[in-house]
Amino acid sequence: MQAFAEAILAGAGGEDLAALPIPESYRAAHVLASEVEMFEGVESADKDPHKSLHVSEVPVPELAPDEAYVAVMASAINFNTVWTSIFEPLPTFGFLKRLGKESVWGARHDLDYHVVGSDASGVVLRVGSLVRNWKPGDKVVIHCNYVDDQDPSSHDDSMMASNERIWGFETNFGGLADLTVVKANQLMPKATHLSWEEAAVNALCNSTAYRMIVSANGAAMKQGDRVLVWGASGGLGGYAVQHVLNGGGTPVGVVSSPEKVQLLHDLGVEAVIDRKAAGYRFWSDEHTQDESEWRRFGKDLRALVGDDPDIVFEHPGRQTMGASVFACKRGGTVITCAATSGYMIEYDNRHLWMRLKTIKGSHFANYREAWDANQLVCEGKVLPPLSAVYPLEEVGEAASQVHHNLHEGKIGVLCLAPREGLGVDDGSLREKVGEQRITLFRRHRA
Ligand SMILES: NC(=O)c1ccc[n+]([C@@H]2O[C@H](COP(=O)([O-])OP(=O)(O)OC[C@H]3O[C@@H](n4cnc5c(N)ncnc54)[C@H](OP(=O)(O)O)[C@@H]3O)[C@@H](O)[C@H]2O)c1
Repeated sequence: MQAFAEAILAGAGGEDLAALPIPESYRAAHVLASEVEMFEGVESADKDPHKSLHVSEVPVPELAPDEAYVAVMASAINFNTVWTSIFEPLPTFGFLKRLGKESVWGARHDLDYHVVGSDASGVVLRVGSLVRNWKPGDKVVIHCNYVDDQDPSSHDDSMMASNERIWGFETNFGGLADLTVVKANQLMPKATHLSWEEAAVNALCNSTAYRMIVSANGAAMKQGDRVLVWGASGGLGGYAVQHVLNGGGTPVGVVSSPEKVQLLHDLGVEAVIDRKAAGYRFWSDEHTQDESEWRRFGKDLRALVGDDPDIVFEHPGRQTMGASVFACKRGGTVITCAATSGYMIEYDNRHLWMRLKTIKGSHFANYREAWDANQLVCEGKVLPPLSAVYPLEEVGEAASQVHHNLHEGKIGVLCLAPREGLGVDDGSLREKVGEQRITLFRRHRA
């Protein structure tokens, strides 16, 4: 893959890249089926991605007709890589086994190692015989919705397809590697004003937040809506607040340190709550929630933005859902895509039905939504919340940072890109969007 890296960095065109041979193996971050029990009896917080994530050469799989090989310049850590690396809530090898039974091409994925990673920026090296819209040399980012276009249900909203999967989590050959194999309908243009690592971090969280906030499949925010965003300087939240601001809404961000409060103010979010400083105790013990704390939280929200939130952007799950349902405005929507702190949820149903609220589930995004969200990145209307960058060899440390909530925004990972700052093709657009704005999270972390 080094020959491809050198050619790309030297500005080689598609014909030059097509003339270079695809190697037999490539460097990839992966977990091993033989190690899924390595953390047996260990507390979640102590399960260490340094131990389970390995970086070494693995064989290059064959290319299916609807796929592309992409040289990965940079990738990113998502929470799903944390889940895979600590084998929670279950090892991901079961997903690969199921995919393996689907078709001849699916069988390639069922291996005793799982190459992880659900984001990437890079350059197309080869395309399969069915691929029409992409060619070697195209600079791309990759979204993680892996769908089967022969499923009728995928033709309305592809997230409805019964065998929809997340690339690099429920499929093999993910993005934390020097090469990846993806379906052509996962490809999107790379923003010309961003570096490889700035471009790599966006697709998963930006598309997810876009569907949750903007899309009719999500909460369909309108101008003037107040939107409560948990983890507002985190991976999802860092995009959610930008979509709320762009759409004329008022975000209320919740974070857990004064530094994160300042970061959100710098991003343009005026209303921010430091949940640690406020000391909310939504749970008085492991089994009992405290409604008076929900009330205190609701009062704080109203004091900040004048009314209850029309939309609550939920993902912490068990720890916050009771408060989210309570605080949401009469007739409002709690939109949820995750349950980081536990998926067995409890809330007081009276607050839901008596005040006509809705809880709506959301998961990643269809190609249309991912494409539209990416367009906003390409136009400089959504900024990459990239706060730290690690080389692929240190992927265990990068995942550990996210596992222990020590990060802000997104963590990038350099794969074939030898250093940060490469890959910017449109300096004048970068200047127009603003270097200070693009690098806000990175400078904040420095
Ligand atoms: N379904 C999907 O398509 C989809 C897509 C992306 C992510 N996810 C899931 O969504 C979750 C968040 O992902 P992410 O990338 O945003 O992760 P992240 O970068 O770790 O950010 C999550 C933030 O949530 C806040 N948080 C964590 N635990 C909390 C708690 N108990 N109470 C209140 N706030 C809490 C933290 O912010 P503060 O400490 O600053 O408050 C944290 O930074 C993960 O579980 C991930 O797997 C799902």
